[in-house]
Amino acid sequence: MLIAQITDSHLLLGDGKLAGRFDTKASFDRLMANLAKQLVQPDIVLFSGDLGEDATLEEYQYVGAALSKLGLTVLAVPGNHDARAPMREALADFVGNTDSGHLCLCDSRFPITIIGLDTLVEGAPHGELCQARLNWLEDALARQRQNDVLIFMHHPPLTTGLRDMDSMGLLEGRERLARLVEAHGKVRGILCGHMHRAIIGSCGGAPVFVSPSSSHQITFDLRDNQPYSFSDEPAQFAMHLIEPGTPMLSHVVPVLYQRP
Ligand SMILES: [Fe+2]
Repeated sequence: MLIAQITDSHLLLGDGKLAGRFDTKASFDRLMANLAKQLVQPDIVLFSGDLGEDATLEEYQYVGAALSKLGLTVLAVPGNHDARAPMREALADFVGNTDSGHLCLCDSRFPITIIGLDTLVEGAPHGELCQARLNWLEDALARQRQNDVLIFMHHPPLTTGLRDMDSMGLLEGRERLARLVEAHGKVRGILCGHMHRAIIGSCGGAPVFVSPSSSHQITFDLRDNQPYSFSDEPAQFAMHLIEPGTPMLSHVVPVLYQRP
């Protein structure tokens, strides 16, 4: 199974540039063109949050129309820049909806069950997994006891050393998430975004892969007391190869590469 992971597009419509320098709409359009030209098409596209910069309905309609054109199955979870109501309205086919109103999803159409976790705290940059979402996850994992599972979520359950970003990381629910992953025993990977860098770690015995942004990156800087800043590294996305019972293999693919 081949899984394309895209993340942190921060789509901004109109003439404005993000932070005065990043044309995130041009990056998103290039990403879509790159995916359409892949020599082996992925079985599914997972969008791990921060689809839009301002969380407007128009941003999600633009994302939805472009992704639908690929003709691939797409699943998405919100990031801290997103908002649930317009995502639900414009991207109904891509997102889940739990009884507690969170956009968590469980899709068992593939050889590996895909679980998407909504870590959004609306209006805040950090993420959390509250008891309602963790209870939902516990039930979902119990129903998928026999199956391999891949989880995707925006905020990584890691402390990365990028301190300013860590201060707005997954601040609640990490320990129980790790216990649930460990107890299930067949979670093959946890795919995340938010950090705008490629980072690898682990949680509950499962590998955690943080994909770089499909638009713009954050500077690698491990110093204390430094606000995060943006770098000029290229837009990227990830391709994950995974079959039941095998470890996940992850490739990072720059978007700017133009096939002749
Ligand atoms: Fe982001």
